[in-house]
This record gives sequence, C-alpha cells and structure tokens, in this order.
Amino acid sequence: MATPDNQTLTFLIFCLSFVVMIPTLHAHIADFDDFWRERELQAKQNLENEYHPNPEQVTEHFNDRVARTLSEFGANNTTRRWLRKKRSISSCKATNPMDQCWRCDPNWEKNRKRLADCVLGFGRNTTGGKDGPIYIVTDGADDLLNPAPGTLRHAVTRNGPLWITFARSMIIKLKEELLMTSDKTIDGRGANVHIAYGAGITIQFMKNVILHNIHIHHILPGNGGLIQDGANHVGLRTRSDGDGISVFGSTNIWLDHLSIYKCSDGIIDIIQGSTAITISNCHITDHNDVMLFGAHDNYTPDEKMQVTVAFTRFGKNLVQRMPRIRFGFVHVVNNDYTYWNMYAIGGSSHPTIISQGNRFRAPRNIAAKEVLKREFTSPEVWKNWDWSSEGDVLLNGAIFIESGDPNAAKKYGVQKMVAFKPGQMVPMLVEFSGTLICNPSKPC
Ligand SMILES: *[C@@H]1O[C@H](CO)[C@@H](O)[C@H](O)[C@H]1NC(C)=O
Ligand SMILES: *[C@@H]1O[C@H](CO)[C@@H](O)[C@H](O)[C@H]1NC(C)=O
Ligand SMILES: *[C@@H]1O[C@H](CO)[C@@H](O)[C@H](O)[C@H]1NC(C)=O
Repeated sequence: MATPDNQTLTFLIFCLSFVVMIPTLHAHIADFDDFWRERELQAKQNLENEYHPNPEQVTEHFNDRVARTLSEFGANNTTRRWLRKKRSISSCKATNPMDQCWRCDPNWEKNRKRLADCVLGFGRNTTGGKDGPIYIVTDGADDLLNPAPGTLRHAVTRNGPLWITFARSMIIKLKEELLMTSDKTIDGRGANVHIAYGAGITIQFMKNVILHNIHIHHILPGNGGLIQDGANHVGLRTRSDGDGISVFGSTNIWLDHLSIYKCSDGIIDIIQGSTAITISNCHITDHNDVMLFGAHDNYTPDEKMQVTVAFTRFGKNLVQRMPRIRFGFVHVVNNDYTYWNMYAIGGSSHPTIISQGNRFRAPRNIAAKEVLKREFTSPEVWKNWDWSSEGDVLLNGAIFIESGDPNAAKKYGVQKMVAFKPGQMVPMLVEFSGTLICNPSKPC
C-alpha cells in the first residue's frame, strides 16, 4: 500500500486484531502484503548466497590479520615487548586491524567511505552505503508516516545506497521502530548521536547495512501501528519488543563502535535466517539479556547463521547471553568480558562456538564461575557440540568447559595465533571500543 487514507487505516486496524496469531516468522509485520512477501523471498535467497560453506577460511583470515597487526607493533610474542613499544606510538593508537584500516587518517571526514573497506569476519563483504551519495541528517525529529527530509527516518527509507551522516550532535527519540532498508551506512562520526528514550533499530529482510559510532540506550517497547518502511510504502506493525538493534532475516551487517546499554529487551538480536554478520569494537554495559543469536529451537534455517563477535568490551552490570546462540557458527574472538552475573556465552540446538583470544573475568559469586551455559540439554547430547577455547585468558577462577571435536579450534585457524598469547592482548585490542570522539582534520 501507499500512503493510507482513513478507510484503509480502519481496515488495517481491523486486521491488526488477528495478528497475534501470525507466527513469529513474520514477527511484528501486521500486514504481510506483497511488498513484505517480496522482501522475505529475497531475504531467503540472500541467506543461501551469503552463507559461507568453509567458515574456517573466514576465521583464519581474521586471526591472521590480527596477528599481522600485532606483529607490526612488535607484539609477536610477549606483552612486555608490546607495552614497551606502545609508549612510543604517541599520536593515534589503532590497536586492531579493523581500526588500523581507517582510524588514524586525519582526513577521515573526507574519506568516510574508506570505512567500508575495513570490516573483517563473517560480515566482511558488507559495504553499506558506499556506492551512494552522502545524506546529512540535520533534524533530530521523528515522524512515522511522513518523515521530513533531513531526518533519520527519511534517510533510512530511501531507495538505493546512502551514506548517512549527522550535521550536529543530537538525541533521536524514535516514536516507533526505525525500519531500515538495504545498502545504508549510519555513520555517527563527527557528532555525538544518541538513539534513546524511544524505540530501537530494526533491520528486517534487508541486506548490507553498517551502523557505526552511535550511542543506543534506554530503548523502550513500541506500540506498533503504521510506519514508513520504504520510499513509497507504509506498513502496519505490531508491538516492538524494545531491542536496541533487531536483525531479522538479514545478511551482511556490520555493527562497529557502538555504545549500547539499558534496552528493555535485548541489546542485539540476530534471528530468523540472518547471516554474514560482524559485531566489533562495541562497548556494552548495564543489561540483562545481551545478545540473542537465533530465537527458536525449531527454526533450522539458523544453521546457516554465521557471526563474528570481536574487539568488544562486555562491561559493567551485564547478566547473561554474550551471546546466547541457537544453531549456526559463531567466532567469538578477542573480546574482553569484565563482568557477568550468570554466564557469558550460552546456547542450545548444537551451535558451533569458537572462542579464541578472549579475556574472561569471572564474578566473585562462586556459583557463576563458568563462562558457558548449555541450555536445557543433557551432557550426553552437548558433548558432541563444538564449543572450543584457544588462547583465552581465564581470570578470577573463570572456567571454560569445552565440548565436541578437541581439534575444532585448531581447524578454525589457531595456528596463526600460537606465537603469542592473544587473550593477554585484549586490553589493547579493545582499548578504543564504543563510540569515538572524532574531530575534523584529526585522527579519531
Ligand atoms: C613478527 O613475526 C612476523 C612473522 O610472523 C615477522 O615478519 C615480524 O618481523 C615479526 N616482528 C617482530 C617485531 O618481531
Ligand atoms: C616467545 O617467548 C618464549 C618465552 O617466553 C620463547 O620460548 C619463544 O621462543 C618466543 N617465540 C618467538 C617467536 O619469539
Ligand atoms: C565475500 O565475497 C567473496 C567474493 O564474492 C566470496 O568468495 C565470499 O564467500 C564472501 N563471503 C565471505 C564471508 O567472505
């Protein structure tokens, strides 16, 4: 449908009374019209296309790039050697390979799109709005049905690629979910941008999106209703859960340098046939259910979910799910877990979890020393799941109980990491996680 008149509005609200029965596959879409059907079909095709049949090639490539960056800093082997060297890197310290690719360029503002060449891991083919013009958000207001030019909702619903930036610092209070379309970058560098005190960001049946350098916090559930979800389309939605970022049936997503805390539901959900995703350099605090990868034990298309979680600081007051995974393959690499209340990483439905070079600091509670949690499964079953740890540093009595193929970590590229203890490097690798303050003509 196009812009709604009163009659269609009444009709849609009538339909809305039935939507509770629509299965979760179409979650939050109250009017699953041809427009959304088409998007869903395309999304299913994207899942097949973007699934990587040899994930070890992606994990090895990632680890190799980290090792090379560290060796450039002379950190091949001992932390001491690294620390000595670190003092002499005075100007810009880009300590991991993704940051090294762009962060120390004083002309970052003129070369914004350079960022799109910097992603590693399963989301490494993501380009966002690289092939499109720059769109400057000038107005922090939000209108669901007729978003004004210059507002974020107007930007993310345009057809075609766009690189979206901000003219000034602003707090954007979204009235309902921000429904993004494909081939977009939201680039908060140069401004202090907060998505807060309203609804969160939804990427549903889309591809190729970069979210970079914004704050997301105090996200509330939405009531749903009519929301612009494409350049010439308004769709009817049901309630939203209050997730910070919801990735639903979407591929090639890169979430980088985000500071996220205090959302009503999850911080980041990756569900219903999403793949080719990298979450990196984020700083996450103050939350219960942090990241959910795969929402249902009977939704087997999530076997093709492949996600990299890297250089992220799981900071204060976190409880569980960093992440919690169903099916799929997740490379959890070089993250800093400084606190958890219940557990760090968990799952069900035999996901593969390759944990490499992380630092896990257990809480004081003697009953919560275990990094992992296998949900609702007996050891006879989970003993066959590949959950492996290599180069991880376990602090304060943290326990990592591996399962499955004892060679799984080696198979996924640990050879490249044996020259040093990467878990000990984590404080440097995540030193600049979260949003960065970027001034024109200076390195970020
Ligand atoms: C680190 O190791 C690489 C090869 O693995 C080598 O090329 C490089 O010179 C080494 N760097 C230092 C500082 O030892
Ligand atoms: C790394 O350090 C250890 C001792 O700490 C040493 O035995 C080993 O040879 C070193 N490796 C390299 C590649 O320098
Ligand atoms: C990225 O694109 C290349 C070239 O098309 C392809 O070979 C690769 O499988 C894609 N995915 C990943 C994760 O590298």
